[in-house]
Amino acid sequence: MKIIQITDLHLRSDKNYNAFEINTFQSAEMIISHISKQHRDIGALVISGDISDDETSESYSNLMEITDQINTEIYLMPGNHDSIEEIEKCASNNRVNSELYFMRDNWVFFMFNTKKNNSPNGLLKQHEIDIFINMLRENSDKFFMIFLHHHPVKIGSPTMDKMIIENANILLELIEQYKSIRGVSWGHIHNVFETQLNNAKLFSTPSTCYQSKPKSKSFVIDEKEKPGYRIIHFSSSGELKTEVRRMC
Ligand SMILES: [Fe+2]
Repeated sequence: MKIIQITDLHLRSDKNYNAFEINTFQSAEMIISHISKQHRDIGALVISGDISDDETSESYSNLMEITDQINTEIYLMPGNHDSIEEIEKCASNNRVNSELYFMRDNWVFFMFNTKKNNSPNGLLKQHEIDIFINMLRENSDKFFMIFLHHHPVKIGSPTMDKMIIENANILLELIEQYKSIRGVSWGHIHNVFETQLNNAKLFSTPSTCYQSKPKSKSFVIDEKEKPGYRIIHFSSSGELKTEVRRMC
């Protein structure tokens, strides 16, 4: 089973909006159009937050317009720039979902809402952690993949690391405890970071628009890196293989 993750679209009501000299609408449209043609076999498309840049309902209409060509289920989760109300409105569409988790084959895909109110930082909510722990206990025969907006581990960029999930230690302790957690992926940092903890691969996905330089002190645009997306393959025996693709 193959799932594709895209993240940090930063769409605004204005389709002509440029962020760091990249038109965010056109860049997201280019990637989604590419995915719809090159990956007809995907089981789901996960969009891991910062869908919007201005929280307007028009920015989410723009998302619906460019995802119309994708013939698969779409899962939305909020980033620090998103409106949860607008995401829920999008989820009234048949193919679009904003549930906390979904299950396919012997995998559970869990999508925490890491948006902290009135802050760019990440925060896990106790009621979602409780549901997750219950799922882990009740589905000991299944494998778990977690999607987040914010990063749960330090990535070596001080500005970004201030915005880390403040209570990520709860999640890291669960990864240490449960060998069934096989992967954790996030957005927000606009570049690629990969590490391993216990049985889980931990990694980020590049933005569909502007990229940032890894391990830079402040947020610095990486002009060499192109917009991208992530492909993740899940095997029935709990193996996870993943790769990032960049647009040329
Ligand atoms: Fe973000």
